[in-house]
Amino acid sequence: MSVPTASSFVPGLEGVVAAQTRLSSVDGLAGELIIAGFPLERLASNATFEETVYLLWHDALPNVAQLDDFRQELAVDRSLIPATLDLLKAAAAQKVDAMDALRMAASTLSLRVPGEQAANLSHEEANKRDARILVAQFPTIVAAYWRLTEGNDPIEPRGDLSHAANYLYMLFGAIPSAERTRGMETYLNTVVDHGLNASTFAARVIIATQSDMISAIVGAVGALKGPLHGGAPGPALDMVFEIGDASRAETVLREKIERGERLMGFGHRVYKVRDPRADVLAAASERLYRADGDMALYNLSREVEKTALALLEEYKPGRNLKTNVEFYTALLLHGLGLPTPLFTSTFAISRVAGWTAHCFEQQQAGRLIRPQSEYIGVKDRHWLSVDQR
Ligand code: ACO
Repeated sequence: MSVPTASSFVPGLEGVVAAQTRLSSVDGLAGELIIAGFPLERLASNATFEETVYLLWHDALPNVAQLDDFRQELAVDRSLIPATLDLLKAAAAQKVDAMDALRMAASTLSLRVPGEQAANLSHEEANKRDARILVAQFPTIVAAYWRLTEGNDPIEPRGDLSHAANYLYMLFGAIPSAERTRGMETYLNTVVDHGLNASTFAARVIIATQSDMISAIVGAVGALKGPLHGGAPGPALDMVFEIGDASRAETVLREKIERGERLMGFGHRVYKVRDPRADVLAAASERLYRADGDMALYNLSREVEKTALALLEEYKPGRNLKTNVEFYTALLLHGLGLPTPLFTSTFAISRVAGWTAHCFEQQQAGRLIRPQSEYIGVKDRHWLSVDQR
């Protein structure tokens, strides 16, 4: 086998800068996340999700009239067309994973606009329209799919509710309280964008070929599904439930670490100081649970966190293992009544806004993304006809 002498291969593209963006800045050493110019802490608990989406798409916050128009534009595209609903029913009959159902249903969104209407739009205009449809439809798809798997009829979306409130309404059939809506808004704002993560990169690669917005987002959903990206938020909550009582936290966690297990919801590849999203979601969880929740579970989670941080410092000194976004995502979404299998698709309801914004940016950059590979195979094989092999 021929072995290359000097390799420029970077496994996982770690440290490689593959895009320029004005959408978010992740500084792992400072523990800082900036979303389109706003420190996360300032944006997440103030903005509605519609304001955040507008900010990402237009690089400015909307004024009153712009926000009103934008809310309506999103609200009119919330209802499912029969083709999407039929697909979700077929998926529910087979109880497929909620992310697979979302990926398949997202593909049906190409059927929403009649052919001749689509033909009158430029490629850019069609992508803008499809971005609106994708953001508007994701909550309806996720909520309808969950209700179908539970043997319930989907609930028609309401145009008079905000994006976040309408999602909770379509899940549970009741208009959510202001605290619950705020909790969902804050969650959606917090995870809307995070630099060049795997799913965002996937979306940018697809749109950079001048493919269409729906294809790019379907690819991104596939990337988000994996457990190394968005697919592992439930285990942090499972760990809190397994502990059950604060008096058991130290024993259970110590045993886990000594068995070589990872404590779920702690540590991060990029953040070595703190994950700012964890702080924002911790504060949002506290507000929600104080107003409207199981304070015993909230207090237990805080105790588990405190004990975990102390033990990680004891067993892994200098590794800077801090609470990550998953720990409080799980607590907040559980407090909002969401079942664990919906955590990743709820993440997608938010991140689709970031993906589409990155697609707009990539379109403007206009450059095909085409890295190189390094050939490590042989070069001098002899051809043998099939009867000689
Ligand atoms: N619990 C116990 N030990 C840990 C943890 C943890 N959660 N995280 C890292 N360590 C230890 C490792 O065992 C290793 O110890 P060693 O040097 O003695 O072998 C050391 O810390 C460094 O670990 P790495 O794997 O090199 O750290 P990396 O930066 O690659 O890992 C990761 C980041 C994957 C998130 C890791 O911290 C982890 O597995 N955490 C638990 C799972 C989790 O919470 N995932 C969600 C992450 S948030 C997100 O991705 C959106």
